[in-house]
Amino acid sequence: MRVWVMPLALLALAVCVTQSVAQRHAARAPQVVPMRAAQVDPGQLARRLADQQPGWPRSRRFDCARIKCVALTFDDGPGEHTGRLLDLLAQRHVRATFFVIGEMVAADRDGRLVRRIAQEGHELGNHSWSHPALAALSEEGVRRELRQTGDLVQRLTGVRMRLMRPPYGATDAQVAAEARREGLAQILWSLDTLDWRDRVTATVARRAETATPGAIVLMHDVHRTTVDAVPQVLDTLARKGFTFVTVSELYGRALVPGREYLERDPR
Ligand code: NI
Repeated sequence: MRVWVMPLALLALAVCVTQSVAQRHAARAPQVVPMRAAQVDPGQLARRLADQQPGWPRSRRFDCARIKCVALTFDDGPGEHTGRLLDLLAQRHVRATFFVIGEMVAADRDGRLVRRIAQEGHELGNHSWSHPALAALSEEGVRRELRQTGDLVQRLTGVRMRLMRPPYGATDAQVAAEARREGLAQILWSLDTLDWRDRVTATVARRAETATPGAIVLMHDVHRTTVDAVPQVLDTLARKGFTFVTVSELYGRALVPGREYLERDPR
């Protein structure tokens, strides 16, 4: 062997060994998906929120089979009247459920309102990103509408929503399947106040006051007239012996993703 061959042979050997080690590493390396800077660990966020708000989320238990419960629900926000509604509910220690639209959450500076909704013990539900009739969309379109809103609310509040309400109540088997995949129960309603059509405070109040035990009442916090009706609705229903609960509290158990709920059957 010539003298100059030795270093070359050693170099070749070294390259071989290095490459095979690198390949083995590549084969064994776990599939780590790098976290984008904008993403926040929701668990960490929820813990931080719990530290700031002792006992959050404050869970309450009601036996709505025995007492008169009603779930007030507010759709299409958060909007310009939501802050005042939250003040009214807080004054009376009443909790409600808010089905929020992703675009509205995104338009609210720093998610101030959606954070306040969560921190004050109300329940949050997914009302899609842009309020289309979900039943008219493709499977992928439905998924995007739900997931985008779910992710944004989770990033802002630490809460992973478990409820959704299809805009216009327009649902079908495909929407149900997507809701199930996203872990969302479909919440419809048993009492429609038609507050979006009739912007008359007294009319909205009168309709809401006809609630029966176990009812899910549909209202919209984006209308001033609806928020104006709330004090009277709360006073009248309280006088009739109703307890105001969130949708999850109304049922008192985990709701089944994808399934439709209109009211709590009196039992
Ligand atoms: Ni709506």
